[in-house]
Amino acid sequence: QILILDFGSQYTQLIARRVRELDVYCEIHPYNNIPEITSDIKGVILSGSPCSVKDDGAPDLDLDQFRGKLPLLGVCYGSQLLAQKYGGAVAPSEIREYGRANLNFIDKHNDLFHEVTHGSQVWMSHGDTIKELPEGWEVISSTSSVKVASFKVPNEHTYGIQFHPEVTHSVEGKNLIRNFVVQICGCSQDWTSDVFIDATIAELKEKLGNDKVVMGLSGGVDSSVAATLIHRAIGENLVCVFVDNGLLRKNEYEEVLHSYKDLGLNVIGVDAAQRFYDALAGKTDPEDKRKAIGNTFIEVFDDEAHKIEGVKWLGQGTIYPDVIESVSVNGPSATIKSHHNVGGLPDFMKLKVVEPLNTLFKDGVREVGRALQIPEAIVGRHPFPGPGLAIRILGDITPEKVSTLQQVDHIFIQGLKDDKLYDEVWQAGAILLPVQSVGVMGDERTYEKVVALRAVASVDGMTADWVHLPYEFLGKISNEIINKVKGVNRVVYDISSKPPATIEWE
Ligand code: XMP
Repeated sequence: QILILDFGSQYTQLIARRVRELDVYCEIHPYNNIPEITSDIKGVILSGSPCSVKDDGAPDLDLDQFRGKLPLLGVCYGSQLLAQKYGGAVAPSEIREYGRANLNFIDKHNDLFHEVTHGSQVWMSHGDTIKELPEGWEVISSTSSVKVASFKVPNEHTYGIQFHPEVTHSVEGKNLIRNFVVQICGCSQDWTSDVFIDATIAELKEKLGNDKVVMGLSGGVDSSVAATLIHRAIGENLVCVFVDNGLLRKNEYEEVLHSYKDLGLNVIGVDAAQRFYDALAGKTDPEDKRKAIGNTFIEVFDDEAHKIEGVKWLGQGTIYPDVIESVSVNGPSATIKSHHNVGGLPDFMKLKVVEPLNTLFKDGVREVGRALQIPEAIVGRHPFPGPGLAIRILGDITPEKVSTLQQVDHIFIQGLKDDKLYDEVWQAGAILLPVQSVGVMGDERTYEKVVALRAVASVDGMTADWVHLPYEFLGKISNEIINKVKGVNRVVYDISSKPPATIEWE
């Protein structure tokens, strides 16, 4: 495997995903909490960072423990750290370099540049630059403004690159990462979905034995894939609970329950819509709404779990980004990202937690799901928040408002599917605004609700851009919504990116 040491760059997870795409296993660890270096580790990648190596207290570590012993690749900050620590000079660039650049010099004899062409486009994002390399170190690529775009230390497999090969704007970046991981580190490309599935099922069998597991399903890809794996390992000893909280999409409860049964899962469907509506009655504050939904879910789930005798484990669909210890941008201390999937586990249940997907990224989960032959309708599904439509209805929740929003959302999502736009979008949905506006229908003046449509492109939901959906499409959907959904006379499209907006409105 490859060890990726994180200095807090927004791109660190992308490095890991590029390595995983090569069917090579890798892990991310914070630079100040390094795991034991076992013989499984074939190479080390040092990530970028929002810090400058010139800052007081800049993230630092003992690189002698790797240098010369394992292949070592520094990316951006990682390359500057290498250069500075071994006698080179790093200084702020005259201008902050951000954006595309071309490699107008490449050392074609270097293994790192196999199948990387002269003039190749790369992505730069740095404020500092390497002014001088330690003695004897060689420049192996340059751009017109950055002489040391990458370097190599003679007679050892230590490399530094100033640009970001992990970002897709670095057009041949994938080849460069493959060259490092496969050619230079010698990793074998055998970490496939099938291998993962076999190994995970064997591990689960060993870990769970004859124990019973209970698991809450959400209809989303993570919990569905996790449940399918556990089911393959222990069969009927896995009992799944799928709760209708009355805040799901139109027909979703019936459709998803049906798919689960087709997958052979032992699943109990619980219609608890009224309990959720009662808990939400009169609540308008977004956090109060979230809390009411979270608490009600725990109550409902706990009621069901108590009916299952002798259950010892709670299955969870937690994925790798939820458990990566990420380096805080505001300081070198390591912080652990809040673990939202486990947050809801009531203390008194005293169950042990089993999380078969906690080493996978979302795209890996999808691949495993496809290899397990889970239907595309589940595997390719957009993310959907736990509190469901409640955080897309601004203000208080009533069954009538839920029904209105379900109809609007259905027209929008079905339209995206019909026009082959669904897979182009990371997440989409509609928001019911607490606003009325004047309209005219036939000869009548109307005074009705406004809905907003939102469609975003994202990698992990942490940042997002609004999607430039075709005007014709938006026009068609707007017409259909206003014509078909009673009580709505105006549709707007949300063109805010995250940050500073968020994806959800509440
Ligand atoms: P925001 O609105 O924070 O959303 O930009 C980022 C991603 O998280 C989802 N989201 C939630 N998921 N419980 C969840 O399970 C929540 O309370 C929640 N709030 C937001 C949101 O749908 C988006 O994918």
